[in-house]
Amino acid sequence: MLVNAKEMLDKALAGHYAVPQFNINDLEWTKSVLLACEEMKSPVILGVSEGAGKYMTGFKTVAAMVREMDKSLGITVPVALHLDHGTYEGSYKCIEAGFTSIMFDGSHYEIDENVAKTTELVAAAHKAGLSIEAEVGSIGGEEDGVIGMGECADPEECKRIADLGVDFLAAGIGNIHGIYPENWQGLSFDTLAAIKEKIGAALPLVLHGGSGIPEDQIRKAISLGVSKINVNTELQLVFARATREYIEAGNDRKGKGYDPRKLLKPGADAIIEECKNKIRLFGSDNKA
Ligand code: 13P
Repeated sequence: MLVNAKEMLDKALAGHYAVPQFNINDLEWTKSVLLACEEMKSPVILGVSEGAGKYMTGFKTVAAMVREMDKSLGITVPVALHLDHGTYEGSYKCIEAGFTSIMFDGSHYEIDENVAKTTELVAAAHKAGLSIEAEVGSIGGEEDGVIGMGECADPEECKRIADLGVDFLAAGIGNIHGIYPENWQGLSFDTLAAIKEKIGAALPLVLHGGSGIPEDQIRKAISLGVSKINVNTELQLVFARATREYIEAGNDRKGKGYDPRKLLKPGADAIIEECKNKIRLFGSDNKA
């Protein structure tokens, strides 16, 4: 069932686990993620970046596909359809397209402008029944063309954005999108604790760049109030690896192994397994 993400994240915060946001890129991806979450009885947030939305021919196509697939697969767990790192314009497009949740990423604006735009979008999202995530302190690395320096968020600025009525907050704590470099310093738990102290215990926090963070750091982040963890790159890596193995083994040349339904199956199955691993790590299994 498609729902907004507020209730599932409030429950996760109270229950000391994290809801996965798995980014989707195409129909197979969406199907794999939904099947894995249904099997594990985990709530899920389907993240759609602006680039992925464009690739899938627009947010309206994505919304229609997810809504129908949710029904045709008989999905019973709560599913939120969420814009990831949305622009100001993209946020409005997703509200109109029938998404159930948006992230407005105003982290690259001066804080006053981030506050002004977030204020407006909180009102627009809530009026339409959507949940809304905001961001302070850009996340490092690149997420579909959105490049951040990986700074740690200023707790004072987090408080200003948190007080606008956002439903969950992404705050940089040294996390990076994509593959972590060898010399990465790890998450800054001091920053995380300072942010939590400022914004109060009631607002769920979001950890972007969830791929490749050591498991002990993931668990500690959850214990300090992280209730949503975003994963994209690791799903792409397992998909690519499984597809490569299939082709390198010459399977596309055997029988009708070139049929896309066969060619893409190992990758789709690998996504299911990786989603299940993350769900176990985040503790969201049997929480739907
Ligand atoms: P990764 O690609 O590093 O898993 O990050 C995903 C993310 O944070 C999407 O917003």
